[in-house]
Amino acid sequence: MRVRISSDIPEPSFVVARTERFVAERLAGEASGHDWWHIARVRHSALTIGAEEGVDLFVVELAALLHDIADWKLNGGDELLGATLASEWLSSLGVEPSIREHVAEIIATTSFKGVGVPSSMRTREGAVVQDADRLDAMGAIGIARAFAFGGFVRQVLHDPDVPVQAYASAEAYNARTGTTINHFHEKLLLLRDRMNTATGQRIAADRHAVMDTFLTRFLLECDGKA
Ligand code: ADP
Ligand code: NI
Repeated sequence: MRVRISSDIPEPSFVVARTERFVAERLAGEASGHDWWHIARVRHSALTIGAEEGVDLFVVELAALLHDIADWKLNGGDELLGATLASEWLSSLGVEPSIREHVAEIIATTSFKGVGVPSSMRTREGAVVQDADRLDAMGAIGIARAFAFGGFVRQVLHDPDVPVQAYASAEAYNARTGTTINHFHEKLLLLRDRMNTATGQRIAADRHAVMDTFLTRFLLECDGKA
């Protein structure tokens, strides 16, 4: 007689499908840039990069799906809320502790917190998810998200008198009062050189060029030169 000792461990496809539904329901209507379609894009990029980098795609997919379920910037400053919620969710599905903890760690460490604040990932899976999340802040989509976010927080589009700042701490970055155009210099144009993986670097170079072109044209039009 064959004994199934792993009968308590759920199938990865079941866990992914249930998690996808959980996240989609939770983020429906989110307007700050973390809507379901941000998650869907990050998941897709993470799986593409992860396949090329040869990492554990189950961990990558779960972390990508769950990485923004509670954004610390929009949830009273509780940085670990997302990781805690993700861990509780995976626990409710019966996912084993080592995978649960790995996913929670990636969620807790993936976010950009200012130019001077290091945010290195401990594992290759984390590096992949962080690259995928950062790619979605770049290129044409990144431009659209920046202006959507700017409108959401009622931030000035562009003011040539407001200087670009180098935020040296997570607190300073979180309390920033800049313009959306400055956000490109304070974050988006810096991401290309912060990619963890070779695949991420390749895609980022292309998206960086799109933002460069956009900003050049934007400033030309501001100056009445185009
Ligand atoms: P992440 O999902 O990488 O943690 P954030 O939560 O910091 O990213 O930002 C979500 C989206 O909003 C990104 O596309 C980011 O560029 C944009 N964003 C964040 N802060 C600002 C800002 N001050 N001005 C314009 N866009 C912003
Ligand atoms: Ni994100």
